[in-house]
Amino acid sequence: MRAIVMTEQGAAPALTELPTPHPGPGGVLVRVQASTVNGFDISVAAGHVAGMMEHRYPVVLGKDFAGTVAAIGDGVTRFTAGERVFGVVTKPFVGDGCFGEYVTVSDQIGIAALPDGIDIATARPGTETEFVRGLGATDVVDYTGDLPAQVRALGPDGVDAVLHLAGDGATLASLLSEKGRLASPLGFGAEQHPAATFVLAQPTTDTLDRLAADVAAGRITVPVARTYTLTEVPAAFDHFANGTLGKIAITVA
Ligand SMILES: NC(=O)c1ccc[n+]([C@@H]2O[C@H](COP(=O)([O-])OP(=O)(O)OC[C@H]3O[C@@H](n4cnc5c(N)ncnc54)[C@H](OP(=O)(O)O)[C@@H]3O)[C@@H](O)[C@H]2O)c1
Repeated sequence: MRAIVMTEQGAAPALTELPTPHPGPGGVLVRVQASTVNGFDISVAAGHVAGMMEHRYPVVLGKDFAGTVAAIGDGVTRFTAGERVFGVVTKPFVGDGCFGEYVTVSDQIGIAALPDGIDIATARPGTETEFVRGLGATDVVDYTGDLPAQVRALGPDGVDAVLHLAGDGATLASLLSEKGRLASPLGFGAEQHPAATFVLAQPTTDTLDRLAADVAAGRITVPVARTYTLTEVPAAFDHFANGTLGKIAITVA
């Protein structure tokens, strides 16, 4: 199969031919139709994850996928060949990825059926502020300015909920109301502030089912800034590094 591969630590990701993987017991072989660029892929390519997780070379990059079940391993009853699925590769090592024509995943985590009516969305982004207003934001503050002052002007009693996706956790926590809570995927948790919770991605089938239902019903939209082909992944990485309004999609099939 064709895949975007790092052959060794420090090697530039490149389009390479690899043997198509086989699903072991409890495994699902997915024919990948599309993926997207995540910060995790850039970090792996830059070698930043090398000391944190085992790397099994050749490493195929790419974390999330949409596609169809090509084959199932022994004991798999939740999925059948030909079924449309989506998910996130969730393995304790770096090596199996979705910037390739096939990927194997466990049937227990990181895979769910793709409901009818969902495909790759499109979006026409304007400025960042217009963009997030279009996603549903009522008030928008400029993080390059005095963020605390802008937030306090909008909510003098503090804010009820903070999602800490970037920036300084302590600064954001100082803006909470008395009963406010902060959720952080960036490691800012209860040890740093009593109202903070460190959250880690756990793409269980239940969670993926709920997200898919939300997308199908229009409660969540996934704006796609631009779509690249598998051979264009290096250009997609450059695009991501330069900032993007919305997801950068990779079409594989
Ligand atoms: N714990 C977990 O399981 C888990 C799972 C997934 C992701 N993560 C982490 O969660 C973070 C968010 O993920 P992502 O995929 O959304 O990252 P991303 O695609 O890199 O987006 C980061 C966003 O933050 C904005 N930003 C940068 N500095 C900011 C600041 N000081 N204040 C406000 N916004 C700022 C950027 O805007 P500009 O374009 O203007 O720079 C960009 O829109 C990443 O650090 C990722 O590694 C953790």
